Amino acid sequence: MKRSMVNKLLENAKQLLSNNGFALPEFGYWSLSEWEQADTETIQKTMLGWDVTDFGCDDFYSMGAVLFTIRNGELKSNLGTPYAEKIIIIPDGGRLPLHCHKTKTEDIINRGGGTFWIQLYLSKSDGQVDRENDVTVYCDGIKKTFGPGERVEISKGNSITLTPGLYHVFGASNGDTVVGEVSSVNDDITDNYFAETVSRFSSIEEDEPALHPLCNEYERLFGN
Ligand SMILES: [Fe+2]
Repeated sequence: MKRSMVNKLLENAKQLLSNNGFALPEFGYWSLSEWEQADTETIQKTMLGWDVTDFGCDDFYSMGAVLFTIRNGELKSNLGTPYAEKIIIIPDGGRLPLHCHKTKTEDIINRGGGTFWIQLYLSKSDGQVDRENDVTVYCDGIKKTFGPGERVEISKGNSITLTPGLYHVFGASNGDTVVGEVSSVNDDITDNYFAETVSRFSSIEEDEPALHPLCNEYERLFGN
């Protein structure tokens, strides 16, 4: 992705969050020079902040998202919190790749905008996607059973709880959508198991200065 596109997506994301009455913590709006002046060790090590990815597919509007990790921890070093929260902006018609987590339990929440849809599959004993058996989950405390890959729509304010090993693919329709994620600690480097050939972070072609740093760029930019 070009940096100019990343910058444009960040501006659009901030506008959509603002339109939905969702404000980020201060560091979400910091310029690079403000980042350089602050003590950001915990922010950097727990990978808080912005993340713009097309999962290496080069077609952001089909498969891509702008994410902001608001809080997170790192269990090994006891940094941060033993829980995590993200906000995910998915473009209308876009989706994230099919994946599951080995350790993370997450609630995925429709915070506003369009319709958030999700399809679920169990894991087979060899870790592959089970495309035959029904899936039982909790949606805001109510037990529900869905067919494998059944399209489930979650309206504003509602959520679905995803447990480890449950494969999920989700996206947005009827407008750009703000999706929340409240979870156990999040490690995007080791805990994502993709059932499609993708890469978690995009490579960026620098064609203009960065508006905000992305969470996978801290080491390169600030050297911590
Ligand atoms: Fe997930």
